[in-house]
Amino acid sequence: MSEAARKATENAEIRGDGAPQTDTGFLWDFWYPAIPSRRIRGRNLATAMLLEVPLVLGRTSEGKTFAMRDSCPHRGIPLSYGHFDGKNLECSYHGWEFDACSGQCLAIPSLTSHDKLKVERISAGHFPCEERDGYVWVYMNVPGTRPPERLPAVPELEKFNGRYKMTRLECELPSHIDHGIIGLMDPAHGPFVHQSWFWRTKASIHEKAKQFEPIPNGFRMSPHKPSSNSAPYKLLAKFTGETVTTTIDFVLPNLRTEIDRSGKLWFSSRATVTPVRRDLCRIDFVAAWNLPLPVSIFRVFAGIFLRQDQQTMIRQAEGLKHNPRLMLIDDADRPAKWYFALKQNLIESRRTGKPLAHPMEGPVTLRWRS
Ligand code: FES
Ligand SMILES: [Fe+2]
Repeated sequence: MSEAARKATENAEIRGDGAPQTDTGFLWDFWYPAIPSRRIRGRNLATAMLLEVPLVLGRTSEGKTFAMRDSCPHRGIPLSYGHFDGKNLECSYHGWEFDACSGQCLAIPSLTSHDKLKVERISAGHFPCEERDGYVWVYMNVPGTRPPERLPAVPELEKFNGRYKMTRLECELPSHIDHGIIGLMDPAHGPFVHQSWFWRTKASIHEKAKQFEPIPNGFRMSPHKPSSNSAPYKLLAKFTGETVTTTIDFVLPNLRTEIDRSGKLWFSSRATVTPVRRDLCRIDFVAAWNLPLPVSIFRVFAGIFLRQDQQTMIRQAEGLKHNPRLMLIDDADRPAKWYFALKQNLIESRRTGKPLAHPMEGPVTLRWRS
């Protein structure tokens, strides 16, 4: 084998990065929630898939979480079948050993003193990993590339005082990430999909005008009095006797946060839609509040709400199989148009190194009936 050919094979062996071949519409180089923290207790390993990258996650005996590509660089068997001792992960096939936090190979049991292979140059893919609000977040840089030296902050749910209740829910949607996200920000489906005695009825539909403003990488529905046809907000006002204000933000790649405040009481929530595969995404919903509202009761209602969205997306996926032409109309679909423009402009700004061109020139009022 020529020197060049040998180098090429060696590099191929060492990279084994499985970088995606086609454009999947994913946004790389962001933090995404991978799993709830509670799934990695002790030495057990958990698996997840983010942006079509299989991951194995765990926690070292010192409590540090890690996320490796769930694929041995030797023959590709998932490393999650291996043995984790609290520090290193040993592959189940030929026993190669990896440092779980750096992905670096530490030992290859089959090597003899005659072998020249540089074990430390072999690495299993790994991704930056941190915990916030009971989730393990993974920074998804394009496989085979290095994450930046300085990573952006991990998203954190806003809380307004030390004593609060908190809960998390999740649900999978059989949709491409873009459909998951525009479903999340869609104001017009409420009276049809979320008809419930506790939320709103179809008859309660009325015209609304909401002000939106640009924020970095996203847009904000400016602080306003929430919809008068929503029971939970009426409840909040009842507790305090004061007005309720709601602020809703959407920020790339996938975060919708909502903060409701009334007097001393507050409710803060975040929904993220995370791409699992190109045909599957997952909503992770986390909420914290200091209202006298038991977690169990909240979970019943939030669960109903999420399942209503999920069922709609399952039905939509049936229709989307046949590749129909779709429409985005004004004003109810304007946030969806902003999302697509933000996404496109972000990719463009990363390509050119120029600042992101925001699709909104300034505050604007949108009107729709819901
Ligand atoms: S496949 Fe993992 S050590 Fe061989
Ligand atoms: Fe919904």
